[in-house]
Amino acid sequence: MPLSNASEPWWRRSVVYQIYPKSFKDSDGDGIGDLKGIRSKLNYIKQLGVDAIWITPIYDSPMRDNGYDIRDYYKIFPPFGTMEDFDDLLKTAHDMELRIILDLVVNHTSTEHAWFQKSRLRKLNNHYRDYYIWRDGKNGEPPNNWESKFGGSAWAYDPNSGQYYLHLFDETQADLNWENEEVRSKVREIMRYWLDKGVDGFRMDVINLISKDQRFPDDDHGDGRRFYTDGPRVHEFLKELNEKVFSRYNTFTVGEMSSTSVPSCIKYSNPDNKELNMTFNFHHLKVDYAGGKKWVHAEVDFIALKRVLTFWQVGMHGGGGWSAVFWGNHDQPRPLSRYGDDTKYHLKSGKMLATVVHMLRGTPFIYQGEEIGMTNPCFKDINSFRDVETINVYRQLTARGILKEEALSIIRSKSRDNARTPMQWDESKYAGFGTEEPWIEVARNYKEINVRNALKDTESIFYHYQKLCSLRKTYDVIVHGDYRLLLSDNPEIFAFVRRYENEQLLVLNNFYGNDTIFNLPPESGMKADKGSIIISNYSDSPSNFMCVNLRPYESIVYLVNLSPEQMYTGSKILVEGSPYSFVKQHKYQGEM
Ligand code: GLC
Repeated sequence: MPLSNASEPWWRRSVVYQIYPKSFKDSDGDGIGDLKGIRSKLNYIKQLGVDAIWITPIYDSPMRDNGYDIRDYYKIFPPFGTMEDFDDLLKTAHDMELRIILDLVVNHTSTEHAWFQKSRLRKLNNHYRDYYIWRDGKNGEPPNNWESKFGGSAWAYDPNSGQYYLHLFDETQADLNWENEEVRSKVREIMRYWLDKGVDGFRMDVINLISKDQRFPDDDHGDGRRFYTDGPRVHEFLKELNEKVFSRYNTFTVGEMSSTSVPSCIKYSNPDNKELNMTFNFHHLKVDYAGGKKWVHAEVDFIALKRVLTFWQVGMHGGGGWSAVFWGNHDQPRPLSRYGDDTKYHLKSGKMLATVVHMLRGTPFIYQGEEIGMTNPCFKDINSFRDVETINVYRQLTARGILKEEALSIIRSKSRDNARTPMQWDESKYAGFGTEEPWIEVARNYKEINVRNALKDTESIFYHYQKLCSLRKTYDVIVHGDYRLLLSDNPEIFAFVRRYENEQLLVLNNFYGNDTIFNLPPESGMKADKGSIIISNYSDSPSNFMCVNLRPYESIVYLVNLSPEQMYTGSKILVEGSPYSFVKQHKYQGEM
């Protein structure tokens, strides 16, 4: 595999494809996707033009949270296959120059993990007790008022040992105690085991939650997150992992950062800091929340979307950080149904959304099915849902008196199950996912939206993604360019400029289903009035960009080559002045 050079590590010019194994491809007819299924589709993934695959957890698990509740880090979940199947998948992928990135879930384990089973035993000097976070209750109540991200208290009472343990997620996902050096050393052991096998890196699940404020105070203003998000010792813990593990294996690392901030993500991902390579943040996906609440109906706030993305683009670049850029994953509704139009403008809006993400500064991640424009399934009733969070929330909403129909309509648009329906391979029964009924229903539109159709049609969303992947290999400006937002208050157009040395890109996107006029504003700094179109979702977009009538969901990327005199050196010195000058200017703090 091509080695990275210091100034451009391989992952900056790469695209990563995310696989949710349970829903990808079932090779043995048990209704559950598996490793052999993934192996059988590597050619397809390679054809898309990506460089690496992130596979969500494959370890042995009771699957209460689909693998994010690990019972044994050294075993494969049997319905997914065997360790031989994994070795085979890894080898085959490597032979095809595809890297494999595993999901590392070490903020918590399943309560069925042997450590927890030992930890909960009531005996003197129980060595494992300190592997988790146990506290006494307060007057018959939990130790503090922190809430679980899946609803309810973040503490569960264990009658056997008479104390509460902390679980920031489901009560079967007990938080590990990272203050304990032995826990940290066990985590390093797990990583080394997989790295010795040859895996290329880790996506690190909610890794910014591992360090908790040891006072465990009540939170008078919120659900407790400010006492453990980007917590007191998190950078120290990550530096330790880097020094003792990542740096020795040249490991790729991307951290999933919950409710984080730009300054924290700069620290996590600036190479000088020796922690991680890049971070995921989710602020741009909260623009259809209302008052910070997810489980309500709310329109996408398009102006906020542009501001949040810009805030992160500029801030991360200014501080020398690096982002993973994406619209969707296994925890999010389908982007096409959320930000696009999943019926009339399915094709146009699917391509437009793809272009936006791939033209931002950062490493793009494609979630399985996004490349063929999969949509939310619109399940008929609550019995079709499988996700632990969704089911908890549905119960809580209806218990609060919200009508069942209303609760159902909220979870239909917000549930994580939207992204977890079986991958649509063809028009045969169960969409070609497998021969038997899958663990979760297939979306009804599979006869039209499927891989077989996408591959047959040269105008499909698939080939648009393929082109975007290959553009990244061709143009330095996509990888290294800086970013400037244009027309920040325009209610329909997302326009931005990227610049690097002798290349300038103008990226125009109409986010709506009507025509709208783009007029090049003077502050664009564009050095010409026309350019070559490197990608567009209409075949006849005009080459002059001074004034463009953008049709529904039209998306055009113009390249202008600069002369030696016009050559831009700004990207090298990053942004002028303080990295946060943009933020002050826009009075936007990004804490959504
Ligand atoms: C992450 C995962 C999500 C999981 C949670 C707890 O956010 O992406 O699927 O439920 O962590 O592990």
